[in-house]
Amino acid sequence: MKNRAEAPVFHTAVCAEPRQPLSQQENCIRSFPARLAHKELGMESKMIRKYRIGTPFNTESVTADIPQEKGLPEGGRDHVLFADGGRTLLYCLSEGEIIYGLGETVRGINKRGWDYISWNSDMPNHLETRRSLYASQNFLLFDKAYGGEDRCFGLYIDAPGKLEFDLGYTDYSQVRIDLKENDADIYILEGETPGEIVTAFRTIIGRSYVPPKWAFGLGQSRWSYMNEDEVREVADQYRRAGIPLDSIYLDIDYMERYKDFTLNGETFPDFAKFVSEMKEKGVHLVPIIDAGVKIEEGYDVYEEGVRNGYFVKDENGDPFVVAVWPGRSHFPDVLNSGARRWFGDKYSFLLDQGIDGFWNDMNEPSIFYTEKHLNEVFGELDEFRGVNIDIGRLNRLLSLVGEMAQREEDYREFYHDADGVRVRHDKVHNLFGYNMTRAAGEAFRRNRPGERILMFSRSSYVGMHRYGGVWTGDNSSRWEHLLLSMQQMPALNMCGFLYSGADVGGFGEDVTPDLMLRWLALAIFIPLFRNHSALGTRRQELYAFGPETEKKAAQIVRLRYALLPYLYSEFMKAVRDSRMLFTPLGFVWRDDMRARETEDELLVGESILIAPVVKPNASGRMVYLPEEMKLVRLRSAEDYEEEILPAGDHYIRAKLDEVVIFIRKGHVLPLAKAAENTVGVDYGSLAYLCHGAVPEEYELYNDDGISPAEF
Ligand code: GLC
Repeated sequence: MKNRAEAPVFHTAVCAEPRQPLSQQENCIRSFPARLAHKELGMESKMIRKYRIGTPFNTESVTADIPQEKGLPEGGRDHVLFADGGRTLLYCLSEGEIIYGLGETVRGINKRGWDYISWNSDMPNHLETRRSLYASQNFLLFDKAYGGEDRCFGLYIDAPGKLEFDLGYTDYSQVRIDLKENDADIYILEGETPGEIVTAFRTIIGRSYVPPKWAFGLGQSRWSYMNEDEVREVADQYRRAGIPLDSIYLDIDYMERYKDFTLNGETFPDFAKFVSEMKEKGVHLVPIIDAGVKIEEGYDVYEEGVRNGYFVKDENGDPFVVAVWPGRSHFPDVLNSGARRWFGDKYSFLLDQGIDGFWNDMNEPSIFYTEKHLNEVFGELDEFRGVNIDIGRLNRLLSLVGEMAQREEDYREFYHDADGVRVRHDKVHNLFGYNMTRAAGEAFRRNRPGERILMFSRSSYVGMHRYGGVWTGDNSSRWEHLLLSMQQMPALNMCGFLYSGADVGGFGEDVTPDLMLRWLALAIFIPLFRNHSALGTRRQELYAFGPETEKKAAQIVRLRYALLPYLYSEFMKAVRDSRMLFTPLGFVWRDDMRARETEDELLVGESILIAPVVKPNASGRMVYLPEEMKLVRLRSAEDYEEEILPAGDHYIRAKLDEVVIFIRKGHVLPLAKAAENTVGVDYGSLAYLCHGAVPEEYELYNDDGISPAEF
C-alpha cells in the first residue's frame, strides 16, 4: 500500500510473461490531462444543442456553458418534434430502436414499452409496473443502429418537477414526453456511437464523485444494529468466518430518538472510542442521516434551524410540519445556500468522532403524513362512528389512514427560499435529495479538503453525481430484483452515477442462501457492495446461513478483493474519461441484434463480460457471446480454469461458489491475492489473465485511497 503522500498513478504494467507476478517497478507512469479542457468542451458543444422552454429553475445539473439555440427546432431538425411550444416532445421510433437511460427506474436496460414518471418517491416494492422510484435522471439515449439506418442521439430534459415519459407505452412506435407544468432546458446530443454520446453528456454535467478506496470493500448493514456489542459481534463473526469486510453501517437506531447528528448515549456510550476501536479492526462505521429534523425544544439542530429560518415553510411562512421517523419534523431548506451550508456543517459532529462515511436517506423527501392532513383525517374519521360501514365506506376508511404517506397534495403545501426566490416545492421536488447530498459534499470539501468521505444517497437528480453515489433503495429478496440490480447500473452510469449499487441480498422479505450467493456473484463487480436488510426479515449477514453457505460466501467475497485492482482502475478510468463502467452489449456490438437484445449480461470495464445466474435451482445458464472470449471460472486468484469460447450461445455451468467471467479478446484482467480488507490488497503480486494481449496493454490505477483523486 502506498502512503498518503504519494501521487495517484495510472501505469501500464510491464511484464513479459502473462500471469506472472509483477513487481512494483512498473514504469510508464503517465499522468493524464483533465478531460474538461476548454478545447474539448468547445468540440462537444458542437454536438450539443440546448433549447429553453419558458424560464426554468436553474438546477445546476449541467456545469458546462452551452449556448442556447434561438427558438425551437423546426420541421424535422433534431428528430424530436417540439409540440405545444416545446411542452410536449414527440419522436417516432423505428423497428428495433432501443431507448437506453432514465437512470434508476424499473424494467430492463431497454426502456421502450413503458410509461415512466419522474417524481422522486419513497417507493418500496419495486414492481415492474411502478412508474417512479427514488430518483429522477431525465437522460435518454436513442439508438437505431440496426436495420439499415445508423443513428443515435441523446436527450436530456433538465426540469426538476414532475414529468412523464411515454416511451412506446401508448403506441409502441412513438415517444411522447410531457413536461407538464415544467419549464425546461432541453439538450440534444449527437454522436457516432452511444458511448460517444454518454461521454458528451457526462462532460457537460461534470466529473463523477469518487469515494475512498475502502468503500469498494464489502459493507455489512442491517436495520438495525442496536448497540456497540451488536456491531462488534458482526465484525468478529466476519473475521472468524474469513470473510473480508471494510465497513459496518449504522441505521437510525444509533441516534437519540431518530434525531440527526445525535448519538444514543446508552447504546453507544463513547462513540469516538468505539469508532477508533473498529477502525483498528479495519472496519469503518457508516451512519445514516435522514432528511427530517425532529421538532423538539432543546435540540440544537431544530432550534438553530428555526432561529435562522433554515427549514422549508408553509404558505404563511412558518416551518412546515411533516412526520417521518421521529414523528413531527421539519425539512432543511437545502435549496437555500445558507441552509445548505448550515446543514452540511452538521456532519462534522460525526466526522470529528472519526466517522468517514455516510448514507443520506428519506430525501425524496419522504413524508409519512403532514400535520395538516392528519387533522383532516381525524375530522373525517369521526363521521364513521356509529354508521353502517358498507364496502364503499370501508374502502374510504381504509384509504384515509392507509394513504396518508407520500401524498402528492402535501408536496404542494410548502415552499423553498432558493436564495431569494420563493418556489413551491412540487415545482422543484426532484432536487431535494440532490441538494441534501450536495450540502454534505460541499461541507466535506470545506471541512475535510484532503480527504475523500464516503457519501451516497437514496434520492437523486443529475448533478448529485458530483457529490455522492446512490443506492437503489428498498428492493426485496427476490430473483427479479437481483436482475434489476444489474440492469439499473448502465442507466445510472450514463448520468454520472458510477458509485452505485443495490442492497445486496435484498432489503425487504426473506433471502434464501442460494439467492444470497448468486447475488454476491454479481455484486462483487458493483462498486457499492453492501449487504443490507430490513428489520424483521431473516438475518442476512453472510455467516447467518450456516457453515456451508458461509464458506461459499467467503470464497466469492474474497474474489471481490482479488478483482479490486481491476475494478478500482476501471472505476477511475470511467471517472476520468467520462465513460461507462457497466456497458450494455448493444453499445459495442451495434449491428448484432442478439447483443442488442441481451438484458442479462454486461461488460464491466474494458476487459470483461459478466453473465450472472439470476434464477433459482439452476446449475448454470445460457450465455450469448457476440465474439470469441476467454471463459475464466474463478474460485480464487490462484484457483481458476480458462477456456477459449467461440462467438455464439453456450450453456455455462456455475456452481454456487464459483464466479464465471469472460475476457474480451485483446484484453487483460489483473488479479490480486485475496485480502482481509481493501488495505491488505497487494498490488505487488498481481497476476495478469490475458486473452490475446499482454499485460503492458493494461492501464492500472492505484493511489492512497483517501486523498482527493485528481487526474
Ligand atoms: C429506509 C431506507 C432503508 C433503511 C430504513 C430505516 O427504508 O431505505 O435502507 O434501513 O429506512 O432507516
